[in-house]
Amino acid sequence: MMLKSALAGATVLASVVLSTSVASAVTVGFSQIGSESGWRAAETTVTKQEAEKRGIDLKFADAQQKQENQIKALRSFIAQGVDAILLAPVVETGWDSVLEEAKDAEIPVILLDRTVAASDDLYLTAVTSDLVHEGRVAGEWLVENVGDEDCSIVELQGTTGSSPAIARKKGFEEAIAGHENFEIIRSQTGDFTRTKGKEVMESFLKAENGGANICALYAHNDDMALGAIQAIKEAGLKPGEDILVVSIDAVPDIFQALAAGEANATVELTPNMAGPAFDVLEAYLSDGTVPPKWIQTESKLYTQADDPKAVYEEKKNLGY
Ligand code: AHR
Repeated sequence: MMLKSALAGATVLASVVLSTSVASAVTVGFSQIGSESGWRAAETTVTKQEAEKRGIDLKFADAQQKQENQIKALRSFIAQGVDAILLAPVVETGWDSVLEEAKDAEIPVILLDRTVAASDDLYLTAVTSDLVHEGRVAGEWLVENVGDEDCSIVELQGTTGSSPAIARKKGFEEAIAGHENFEIIRSQTGDFTRTKGKEVMESFLKAENGGANICALYAHNDDMALGAIQAIKEAGLKPGEDILVVSIDAVPDIFQALAAGEANATVELTPNMAGPAFDVLEAYLSDGTVPPKWIQTESKLYTQADDPKAVYEEKKNLGY
């Protein structure tokens, strides 16, 4: 009898504990841009893994590259009363109203990998790389490796109006400024995709004497560089030699291109933005610890000298 009631008591206690922990599970809405690049696919995978590891209930919304879809997703998260929102903003501007709505609802918003042109009291923190610095690192690599020869550069920009496209252009231009032998002769968006990178590079090659006038390609991400590499090969030139290739992200495929001598340098962007974001969010929700407004991730340069085959092996199963 006593054993029976002790067991019954334990069951009640267990179910209270269980329902308390279920009731207190943190719910986070994640508005992702889409899946334009290998890097972004990895960021999505890592965010889902990090949430699962921590018992966070993640509500995922893919915006298919459209800001209006992101705004709708944010409004739906607010209506559902989530505990927090992760936002990877497709473009920089146009966020003020919806961020105000989240603020009024006391829902903290964390920006992932891109910044917005809005007052910083509208979000809790931003987990990003130094996007200008990335462009600068790419430009400095080119300046150091080309030396005094004249070098006409073609540039594949990221999504128009996005913070990485704006900042990576700025940083690269800063690095080549003052070096009279460097000039960006063509610059166009490739939307951060492989297909568009190839298409735009084909038009650059046609317009520039089949590529004979081009010394280097600077692409705001590896996917566009990989598409462009294909275009350069199809034009009968050797990427990495006839046209130098420098880009950003450090996705596994670019390491294969580095190993084959078809790419020259890439600047790494970690896809793990969610880890630091969830760390500060958990502290904020548990005891109100306010994080710094910017949590900066590292930007490491890789070249053909960095054992690209080995790096490819390390990275190939990480969700890219
Ligand atoms: O915001 C980060 C950029 O967005 C990545 O460099 C690019 O690949 C992407 O899609």
